[in-house]
Amino acid sequence: MSRVLVASGSSEGQTTTIAERIGDVLAEEGHEPTLVHLKHPPADLNVESYDGVIIGASIHAGTHQRYVTAFVREHRAVLNRLPTAFYSVSLTAASADPESQATARELLEEFLEETEWDPDVTLPVAGALRYSQYGLLKRVVMRRIAGKESGDTDTSRDYEYTNWDDVAMFARQFSALVR
Ligand SMILES: Cc1cc2nc3c(=O)[nH]c(=O)nc-3n(C[C@H](O)[C@H](O)[C@H](O)COP(=O)(O)O)c2cc1C
Repeated sequence: MSRVLVASGSSEGQTTTIAERIGDVLAEEGHEPTLVHLKHPPADLNVESYDGVIIGASIHAGTHQRYVTAFVREHRAVLNRLPTAFYSVSLTAASADPESQATARELLEEFLEETEWDPDVTLPVAGALRYSQYGLLKRVVMRRIAGKESGDTDTSRDYEYTNWDDVAMFARQFSALVR
């Protein structure tokens, strides 16, 4: 059994929901996951005390949460020593268009370059559109972005694009690595 830190940044909740699924899979595989939201990490969080770390963040206006970037930069020496994984959640990753898929991968790589972190496993993950949670301005902006990416512009409902099989596979891949 390994102790795994699953730390994420999330603005509307989907990256946290994905972290929970990853935690469930790790627990099924016999590990002990600890889930932490990086906006308010516990003061006594000791990254070095874990056997492995998975970090997740989502993309808003072309970039991941600044507090996740800051966390990874601060802990990159430890992260580069431990088994680690990173997943990047976006709407871009939801598109079947190969160009959008390439962009999602580029955004993920940009984050790793900026933070000087070299995780063992990475995954761009399709996120969600939560029109019901957005204020008017956000809804208008997201409707426009969705028109380009996913095509789902009916703002009277929410959409979830996350491929849960891919998420489970990513968690199992990491489980084998950290074991
Ligand atoms: C205001 C706003 C801006 C966004 N900008 C982008 C973007 O630039 N590129 C993208 O691929 N997805 C974008 N998204 C989609 C989010 O990445 C997607 O909704 C994701 O599921 C959010 O994850 P979270 O709920 O964990 O924050 C944006 C979403 C919102 C609400």
